[in-house]
Amino acid sequence: MEKLKAKIRTEGRVLGPDVLKVDAFLNHQVDPVLMADIGETFVSLFKDAGVTKVLTLESSGIAPALMTALGLRVPLVFAKKRKSLTLKDDLWTERSFSFTKQEESEVSVSKQFLSPADVVLIVDDFLANGQAAQAMAGIVRKAGASVAGIGIVIEKSFQPGRRLLTEAGYRVESLARIARLSEDSIEFEE
Ligand code: G4P
Ligand code: NA
Ligand code: NA
Repeated sequence: MEKLKAKIRTEGRVLGPDVLKVDAFLNHQVDPVLMADIGETFVSLFKDAGVTKVLTLESSGIAPALMTALGLRVPLVFAKKRKSLTLKDDLWTERSFSFTKQEESEVSVSKQFLSPADVVLIVDDFLANGQAAQAMAGIVRKAGASVAGIGIVIEKSFQPGRRLLTEAGYRVESLARIARLSEDSIEFEE
């Protein structure tokens, strides 16, 4: 997606060898017009997949996932990271280890919002090691629902997430794929 790549080139900031900061349009301030374009792009990629729900993880996945759900005319469900006060019996839960933050968290979705009839499109802002997407896919499977695919706004292709998810059989569509990051350049995959 050329418009997204242009935005990353002009407003993205590289932190260290493997972190791209995009607080100006995605992770802190949000560009709603860009989010609408991202949603339309995911809609055109997945419009024939029979999607009944979009699933993301709070908080930064919500903006692009909402625009996708709006375009597909289906509900958005966001998985929660904090432990809920609700009884655990009511939740589908998976553990997710963040290599970026070096911490394990629990990701959960209420059983109320996923059923075996659902075909779920998973959307997230970043794909790094794939732990968040894998946890969401695990929740979909526990619910007896199916995964239509995984839509990623920014993939860091030099990290192992894409390979992990495609080897597990999931369709992964990333709107910007970064091959390399360095202090003075952001290189995209061809
Ligand atoms: P993984 O899911 O691919 O394994 O990634 P990981 O756990 O390592 O990522 C932890 C958090 O850091 C996630 O956000 C993820 O979106 C984000 N992240 C990973 N790499 C980058 C990067 O290069 N740049 C930016 N800006 N974020 C990155 P989170 O903890 O879920 O936070 P939130 O923003 O959704 O609240
Ligand atoms: Na995220
Ligand atoms: Na994030």
